[in-house]
Amino acid sequence: MAKGVNIKEAKGKLGILLPGMGAVGTTLIAGVELIRNGFAKPFGSVALMGTIRLGKRTEDRTPKIKDFVPLADLQDLVFGGWDLFPENAYESALHAGVLNKEDLDKVRPQLEAIKPMKAVFDNYYVKRLHGTHVKTGSTKMDLAEQLMDDIKNFKKEHHLDRLVIVWCASTEIYLEHDPIYDSLASFEKGLRENHIAISNSMIYAYAALKLGVPYVNGAPHTCHDMPALLELAKKNNVPVAGKDFKTGQTLMKTILAPGLKARMLGVKGWFSTNILGNRDGEVLDDPGSFKSKEVTKLSALEFIFQPKKYPELYGDLYHKVRINYYPPRGDNKEGWDNIDIFGWLGYPMQIKVDFLCRDSILAAPVALDLALFIDLAQRAGMSGIQEWLSFYLKSPMVAEGLYPEHDLFIQSMKMKNTLRYLMGEELITHLGLEYYD
Ligand SMILES: NC(=O)c1ccc[n+]([C@@H]2O[C@H](COP(=O)([O-])OP(=O)(O)OC[C@H]3O[C@@H](n4cnc5c(N)ncnc54)[C@H](O)[C@@H]3O)[C@@H](O)[C@H]2O)c1
Repeated sequence: MAKGVNIKEAKGKLGILLPGMGAVGTTLIAGVELIRNGFAKPFGSVALMGTIRLGKRTEDRTPKIKDFVPLADLQDLVFGGWDLFPENAYESALHAGVLNKEDLDKVRPQLEAIKPMKAVFDNYYVKRLHGTHVKTGSTKMDLAEQLMDDIKNFKKEHHLDRLVIVWCASTEIYLEHDPIYDSLASFEKGLRENHIAISNSMIYAYAALKLGVPYVNGAPHTCHDMPALLELAKKNNVPVAGKDFKTGQTLMKTILAPGLKARMLGVKGWFSTNILGNRDGEVLDDPGSFKSKEVTKLSALEFIFQPKKYPELYGDLYHKVRINYYPPRGDNKEGWDNIDIFGWLGYPMQIKVDFLCRDSILAAPVALDLALFIDLAQRAGMSGIQEWLSFYLKSPMVAEGLYPEHDLFIQSMKMKNTLRYLMGEELITHLGLEYYD
């Protein structure tokens, strides 16, 4: 058996701080409250419901992941966050309209007790929002320091042992690479000089990493996926992950596309369109924010199909993604895909997908698992990009020089093998020989 890694116990309380207490954030918080009070089950959470096979199939050892690796207990989680609207988590959840009032009322006092701290927010980076509950500061460095004070105070006030931060706030505009991202020194100079290339989310990530708090980016914009902040993560031994929660249409893509490719079926075109009417949809109606999303959404198929390796099958793939803001639908998105495929002798076929999904219902367990696993990573002494968490992300961060893995099934195998490795179990190769598998 392999040696395994020395993992610190998950003792004491874990704080989960969320920049952004909107639809995803409040669905996560309310969901955890409902689950830990016995009103619901954690459907969609692989960390809490998934199992992991250990050893050979004949050994019949398949514990739940939560009983195999030392994760924080749900009873030990404490939520907090920031938002540019001052509503508490109950009011904000009602406004988001994801969960019904009847469910929210079961945990109303717990939700009302969670009031957002003032946000770091400049509307240059999210054009459609105008908030009042916002910090003021002389420089971006000053704002980062205010966030650090918030984090330290939150930890003290709630007697927390550890903290993680998961970005659940709006998608920011697409920013081109800027030389100040190239080193920590130039980034810090940029903070002091209010450099325009430093967005709101980068200030949060800097504050977190500076204090040694793991940081996950649930949105598609550029944040800590740059040399400067990765340098800080390495320097302070902090694990990070991102970006963009893998839900909805892209989840479907990364389920379907690997299957088509595994059977060597060709794809000529993939047209995806969505209607959604929540605040996220409104933000994404702005071309700048949509550009961030479009880049992450488009990349998945490119990496799965590898058109350069399979030019006859995928070389001419026409891929288009559209998001349409349509208020009547609220959080209940509808996503259509038309996929033009071809098979034996090039004969064409079509697949139509009509996914009536609930965005935040899919995103909340992803955010929870990422919080639990990034905390595990920190206790296991892992730092920098946690590629094994790509399973949850639309546009996984990877070390320089590597390409991201988008195939959901390879990602799942990678994640489970990482957990086996951490716990000193044999890695599973799925080799089809009687004695090996
Ligand atoms: N719902 C999904 O399935 C899904 C999937 C992938 C990614 N995402 C991303 O997750 C994020 C949250 O989605 P949502 O549906 O909850 O959106 P939302 O609009 O309901 O909530 C976002 C919240 O963030 C707040 N906010 C914006 N900038 C902020 C800042 N600088 N500091 C603090 N708060 C700030 C807004 O006021 C709002 O309350 C978005 O970026 C979205 O693109 C969502």
